Amino acid sequence: MNVLGIETSCDETAVAVVESGRVIRSSVIASQMLEHARFGGVVPEVASRRHVENINTVIRAALSDAGVTLADIGLIAVTNRPGLLGALLVGVSAAKALAMVANIPLVGVHHIEAHLYANFLTHVEADFPAVALVVSGGHTDLFHLRGHGDYRLLGRTRDDAAGEAFDKCARLMGLPYPGGPAIQEAAKAGNPGAVKLPRAYLPGTDEFSFSGLKTAVRNALTGSTGKSADADPSFVAPKIADLAAGFQEAVVDVLVRKTVAAARETDVSRVFLAGGVAANERLREAMGDACDKAGLRLFYPPPVLCTDNGAMIAATGYYHYQAGRGTDDLSLTALPSEPLAAL
Ligand code: KG4
Ligand code: ZN
Repeated sequence: MNVLGIETSCDETAVAVVESGRVIRSSVIASQMLEHARFGGVVPEVASRRHVENINTVIRAALSDAGVTLADIGLIAVTNRPGLLGALLVGVSAAKALAMVANIPLVGVHHIEAHLYANFLTHVEADFPAVALVVSGGHTDLFHLRGHGDYRLLGRTRDDAAGEAFDKCARLMGLPYPGGPAIQEAAKAGNPGAVKLPRAYLPGTDEFSFSGLKTAVRNALTGSTGKSADADPSFVAPKIADLAAGFQEAVVDVLVRKTVAAARETDVSRVFLAGGVAANERLREAMGDACDKAGLRLFYPPPVLCTDNGAMIAATGYYHYQAGRGTDDLSLTALPSEPLAAL
């Protein structure tokens, strides 16, 4: 069965056709990143407008790249939660219109669940039970995945999400938006040990905190007294490459240690990485080493399926449908905040 997956929860208008939950026949992503970069982050109003302008073209391109028409689509899956409300509504409205005119079943998909399913799209051996670390612009969540649709939240961030920390700290360092790829690049020329930065391990919990790290990055740039180099000539700011490398290492250390601990705690042998920050090369490498040592099998999607895309939405819709979890009717609506699973 071919599933059309539609994603408009943030700043990518993305549509894909996926066959049998695993074969990507097309995946088109219209990114608004450059436009939002001018403002240092996603501007919700701008995002909604661009989705409206792009959605029809992106849907047409996804169908034509896959060599199919609507008549070949057996299910339409659309992100309807969580995300920017105005942005979500564009995808949901388009999906409902197509479902109605072509008489195709429709299913609303949870964006975070879809990030998890990017692993099923790319690894035939991906299976439950597992522990998943979802690290994106809006989330840093650890889940115990017991089966399809059966998830327990182990812990999440108390303040900034990991991607948000990358984006905010990149801005402090004068690096462009999105901050994750920019810091990853800058860090390549830096020494991660040159600037001492804190790690909040929050022992005994599966929670995270990155706001202290953000303050430490700010202090490193201005001096702990808050004086800049202009006000205090004796202050020497660190090299941006060193600060970027130190910041990345601090985030990665915490993510790796806490994920491996959660896998031990839940007695699973598989770890999934998901979300935009899962594209980070240093995180993939360090998590790989730690999982090898701990005898855990690590799964992560290729970078293009870590960040937002329509293929992961289609795959999630497929598994829902196959599991008999029901479809949605035209009353399907967008929900800006909705947890995937309870604590
Ligand atoms: O999953 P995603 O595309 O959108 C959300 O659902 O939030 O994640 C976007 C986030 C941004 O914060 C971005 O800076 C981060 O993922 N990101 C990265 C990398 N690529 C994207 N963070 C670290 N390293 C990367 N290579
Ligand atoms: Zn996302």
